[in-house]
Amino acid sequence: MRLFMLVFLGGVFLAGDALPQSPNEVRDGRKVAGMCRTCHGLNGFSSIPIAPHIGGEPVDYIINQLEAFRSGAREHEMMSVVAKGLSDAQIRNVATWYGHFDITATLPAKAKPEDAPELCVACHGVTGIAETDDAPNLAGETNIYIDTQLKAFRSGKRSHDIMSAIAADLTDTEIRDIADWYAAVKLEIIAPQ
Ligand code: HEC
Ligand code: HEC
Repeated sequence: MRLFMLVFLGGVFLAGDALPQSPNEVRDGRKVAGMCRTCHGLNGFSSIPIAPHIGGEPVDYIINQLEAFRSGAREHEMMSVVAKGLSDAQIRNVATWYGHFDITATLPAKAKPEDAPELCVACHGVTGIAETDDAPNLAGETNIYIDTQLKAFRSGKRSHDIMSAIAADLTDTEIRDIADWYAAVKLEIIAPQ
């Protein structure tokens, strides 16, 4: 169970992982992350627009996605190959590594919180920090990535009970507007103290 402490500090939301992490999992996970860093960065801040930021994601969400890529339930030419080579322990450890970072998400100066996409905030938050363990952060992901995933849910290429139903009703314009909202958030990934 991951608890989020959301602190509103003049437009900055701070999310901390309230559970203690096993030092061994974090250390072993850092080694596994050597395989991920060219695309996701060692701290989970991605350097290529098609790869998402994964630092500070809920650990359960990272585990779910790696298992989905490994089983073929979710497909991507790069990630499917990477995930097929991972053991259960490597998945748990690397998820713990990326999940152990703290993040801040800051809205652009001109953005008003009440303009956040109302269909999404219950689970993804106003700034794109997940409100539940099974949902991902969207803060600062590129609009290309968010757009691609929503269209994948809509077309059935990617499937999830909640998200497939939500995406089915979205138009291309709505997808673009929502993707732009979350992409405009400034994400910072911080090593925990
Ligand atoms: C060659 C580049 C590359 C490498 C190496 C790579 N990834 Fe990825 N990763 C991607 C791309 C691209 C996506 C987006 C896939 C999609 O569009 O569905 C992704 C998606 C993910 C996701 C899903 C995130 C989300 O928000 O849904 C996770 C988790 C992930 N990668 C973890 C890892 C881990 C852990 C490693 C190392 C063991 C790794 N990746 C190595 C490119 C890479
Ligand atoms: C009731 C909770 C809930 C609501 C409301 C919701 N989502 Fe989600 N969303 C989820 C969950 C859970 C997942 C993880 C799906 C999976 O495991 O594949 C997800 C995944 C996503 C992803 C994939 C991100 C990634 O990193 O791969 C995107 C994009 C997304 N949601 C956008 C939206 C948008 C846009 C809305 C509003 C129109 C929305 N969601 C509303 C729960 C929700």
